[in-house]
Amino acid sequence: MASTLVPTVAPAVFASRRARLMAQLPNNSVLLVSAAAEITRSRDTEFAFRQDSDFNYLTGFPEPDALLIMQKSAAGEMTELLLCRPKDELAEIWQGRRYGAALAAETFGLPAISHENLPLEVQNALNQKTTLVYSQGTYAEFDALVSSTLATLRKYPKKGYQAPTQQFDLRPIIAELRLFKDEAEISMMQKACKISAQAHCNAMQQCKADMWEYQLEAIIRFHFAMQGARDAGYNTIVGGGENGCILHYTDNNAQLKDGDLVLIDAGCELAGYSADITRTFPVNGKFSAEQAALYQVVLNAQYAACAAVKPGNSTKDTVAAAIAELTKGLLELGILQGELDTLIKEQACKKYFIHGLGHWLGLDVHDVGAYKVNDVERPFEPGMVLTIEPGLYIPTGSDCDKKWWGLAVRIEDDLLVIKEGHLNLTDDVPKEIAAIEALMAGSV
Ligand code: GLY
Ligand code: MN
Ligand code: MN
Repeated sequence: MASTLVPTVAPAVFASRRARLMAQLPNNSVLLVSAAAEITRSRDTEFAFRQDSDFNYLTGFPEPDALLIMQKSAAGEMTELLLCRPKDELAEIWQGRRYGAALAAETFGLPAISHENLPLEVQNALNQKTTLVYSQGTYAEFDALVSSTLATLRKYPKKGYQAPTQQFDLRPIIAELRLFKDEAEISMMQKACKISAQAHCNAMQQCKADMWEYQLEAIIRFHFAMQGARDAGYNTIVGGGENGCILHYTDNNAQLKDGDLVLIDAGCELAGYSADITRTFPVNGKFSAEQAALYQVVLNAQYAACAAVKPGNSTKDTVAAAIAELTKGLLELGILQGELDTLIKEQACKKYFIHGLGHWLGLDVHDVGAYKVNDVERPFEPGMVLTIEPGLYIPTGSDCDKKWWGLAVRIEDDLLVIKEGHLNLTDDVPKEIAAIEALMAGSV
């Protein structure tokens, strides 16, 4: 198979994830995990294929039209089987190489067969099991297959068929595993973060007035690709001036103006893992007084929230820290008026801080994992990776002095929780005002 710069994960790592998952299932159960489906882009061409994150987490197998079947017998013995596309000379000439069952088994370290008899394999796996575990509602074709298999098993008891009587949703079980990153994941995420941080530095260094937003995007995507990360983890956001106020702005089709800020939110995807970094900097390399003042408020909030990321604390603590700093800063700048404690209690800064403070990060940029347990914010634990991304957005017409209008600032880093607190995986890209200006002036 073609090699790339992307580091690989050893088959034993996937095997241990599957074993941990199966350990949580009752005896006499069957678990089905479908690969992602290809999506038509236009007539007979497809969008670039991206593997389903859960399937990727458990197998590392990169092709569509595949299914993982895991079974736990009544005695608790586990078996696993990958069904995949067969080798096919003609299809491979037109569409590309395929592993085929033999090479898939050898490369990914789990038994594999070609998927021609997939419906029968699924029927045999489900028959006489008590419990079925899968993610219903993600892939329509796969849902239809499971439904029709269950219908067949229910219809013909005289043939010795019996359908599972219990069904569990796979997603929350696997989400809980994915929330705690293993060594292989941490190493992959560190690489994704390093590549992304350097891409942001390149954008700062190469940014000039009158460039187009999509040209800064191209600088970033070029660096991703040259470092082995062909894809971005999400659509790159490059918002000059007031475009920064549009939270998920991806048009990226405006010209950057001398005297404006530009907000870039970009992260590469490496072996499925996403980085997620935002930096805001002046197009001409020098913050104006207003820009610097507002930027410093967000930076103070970001530092305060990051400092609260440690085992035992929760998002309650990070959000409280960020809100205290944002409110204090906005009050000092006269953008908010009133009494500090009251403004904090009323969360008055939410008028300009219009999104959440962060999210889990991993195989999905907004990664899986429950944020609350029994309706209470869960404490941070080692192995979790999250973003901290406060922002302030003051669109034209806001209820404050005109000098602030059109400013948008967000600063976002990716943090790994460790026993001693946290590691900031994205601190290679500067965020202090002086450090950004020095990098853009070419003096570092
Ligand atoms: N890049 C999307 C986000 O920061 O959540
Ligand atoms: Mn984010
Ligand atoms: Mn982001």
